[in-house]
Amino acid sequence: MSALMLATQALVGPGDRVVAVTPLWPNLVEIPKILGAEVTCVELLFGRAGWTLDLDRLLHALPPSTRAVYINSPNNPTGWTLGATDQQAILAHCRRHGIWIVADDAYERLYFEGAGVAAAAPSFLDLAEPDDRIVSTNTFSKTWLMTGWRLGWIVAPPELVPDLGKLIEYNTSCAPVFIQRAGVVAVNEGDVVIAHTADRLRRARDFLQARLQRLPGIEAVAAPGAMYAFFRVEGVVDSLAFCKQLVADAGLGLAPGIAFGPEGEGFLRWCFAASEARLADGVERLQRYLTRRERARAM
Ligand SMILES: Cc1ncc(COP(=O)(O)O)c(C=O)c1O
Repeated sequence: MSALMLATQALVGPGDRVVAVTPLWPNLVEIPKILGAEVTCVELLFGRAGWTLDLDRLLHALPPSTRAVYINSPNNPTGWTLGATDQQAILAHCRRHGIWIVADDAYERLYFEGAGVAAAAPSFLDLAEPDDRIVSTNTFSKTWLMTGWRLGWIVAPPELVPDLGKLIEYNTSCAPVFIQRAGVVAVNEGDVVIAHTADRLRRARDFLQARLQRLPGIEAVAAPGAMYAFFRVEGVVDSLAFCKQLVADAGLGLAPGIAFGPEGEGFLRWCFAASEARLADGVERLQRYLTRRERARAM
């Protein structure tokens, strides 16, 4: 979170045009807004193949007057993951026009389509030259299971580093030293944990997907990355009201799709970083709730 705020403070000012690919974890749209930027959203599309990007539409939304484009891949909430070919096209376009790419890579190592366990999702950093206007932010919260430790990092070109140093000084001064030491251990010795976590999440994703598909009126496509199922429920037009009712009546807490942008309306986000027993219990609760709701609507 802090890495994203620092990167945006370094790059974006009042009136700047910023583009974000959505649905998206809301903080990423709100940070540039807090700093006075005008944020334009380019929506992913949902269909049989899951969530996809219309590349032409994105490039069209990036005229030379654009300051930065924010892309979170693998994406919270959809799991959508940007392929290397599209990355190349976006990078070429941004190089041509001097547009900054802010890549939120929080779920980079939670990618289920690559070869082998814990393969990394395609990254702009794989394509980057040292001076490219690419800022990648990352965190120990997800893959390394260090949620709440508040430790992350930024990869940025040399031109940005002096300003980032000043901004860190005026925000937090530094992460606590003992937590930095834990980060060093996590990076050097954490691969076994990452492999185990990615494998566990892949199985949880498949388990939840199979269970959800059995329920009538649910449209769900397995996510290629991250830790969420983002699925549509027939008849849900107000996802916030639905989720509030679901908590109250069924004791099941899901995130309303509308929290991630207007195109998320009608969808629900389920975090599958949980045991199979817990996921199965949740699906049963959802099923019972949907049945009761269907009966009430029929009366
Ligand atoms: C896409 C994305 N980026 C960044 C973060 C921030 O993670 P943290 O501040 O816990 O390191 C999150 C947390 O949910 C996220 O989903």
